[in-house]
Amino acid sequence: MSAPLTDLIAIRDLTRDQVDDLLDTAREMLPIARRERASVPTLRGRIVCNLFLEDSTRTRLSFDLAAKRLSADVVDFTAEGTSVTKGESLLDTAETLMALGVDLIVLRTSSAGAPVQLAREVEVPVLNAGDGWHQHPTQALLDALTIRERCGTVEGARVTIVGDVLHSRVARSEVELLRMLGAHVTLVAPPTLLPPDVGGWGVTVASDIDAVLPDTDVLYVLRVQRERMHRAFFPSTREYASVWGIGADRLRRLPADALLMHPGPVNRGVELTSEAMEDPRSVITEQVTNGIAVRMACLYRLLSATTRAEVAS
Ligand code: NCD
Repeated sequence: MSAPLTDLIAIRDLTRDQVDDLLDTAREMLPIARRERASVPTLRGRIVCNLFLEDSTRTRLSFDLAAKRLSADVVDFTAEGTSVTKGESLLDTAETLMALGVDLIVLRTSSAGAPVQLAREVEVPVLNAGDGWHQHPTQALLDALTIRERCGTVEGARVTIVGDVLHSRVARSEVELLRMLGAHVTLVAPPTLLPPDVGGWGVTVASDIDAVLPDTDVLYVLRVQRERMHRAFFPSTREYASVWGIGADRLRRLPADALLMHPGPVNRGVELTSEAMEDPRSVITEQVTNGIAVRMACLYRLLSATTRAEVAS
């Protein structure tokens, strides 16, 4: 039995046992996530608050569906039209949510570190749905589940992550989780889009994507995070697409049984051509379905009858 979860903020806060438990639980949730089986009453009467202070469609929907398949009630609190845009601080908002009686807060924010701060202030579990450049733990978990379902194990998989590593919370969570599970990770990116501390990440860094592709089991393509670029990191989108994008030529170098993954939303024609998205090795839609199962597992574990006080005692 793994230690109970009180919050889910960053991959590094999880033990290997907790990760295995979440992935095993998510696996059991898959038939419900895929709608092969009806929703279950597990979290009936519990209230999940989706506090989304940054644009997101698919992650918000995924959390919403995950909560509903477990029969929880969901309240949505988005930045637009709420008092957060009127200058109310996150902690004031949290106080209001506590007074309203929510049982768990799912937080998406552009401020790295805000979920940790929130977790210190509130009594209920906080689930980080992406904070700035920092972490996106449920994305990494759903990707690990996808690899595990397809390949049997993550252990020993050669995973190549391509693209905008610098601005990517997905890459940070992904690398931590994949290394914990025994994958070999190679990052391939334009030098301007590699973080300065990448030397300490425990990964191989390569610059020639074509040389790496034949030795890749999982090709993980990151989104170009234009909204986080406040200067030019590459000459033009067309140049990025031709130097770093994945299309027919590169797909020929990728082994026939490899997987092609992307966290979404894809900038079609930039990171991936339409042909790449439709390639039989692409598991992008499976990632989306697995995301519901992983979020169900996380909500279930965070809400399974433990309070912070019980865990501390
Ligand atoms: C990711 C995110 O927002 O961090 N997307 C997502 O959760 N659906 C990846 C990205 O935006 O590139």
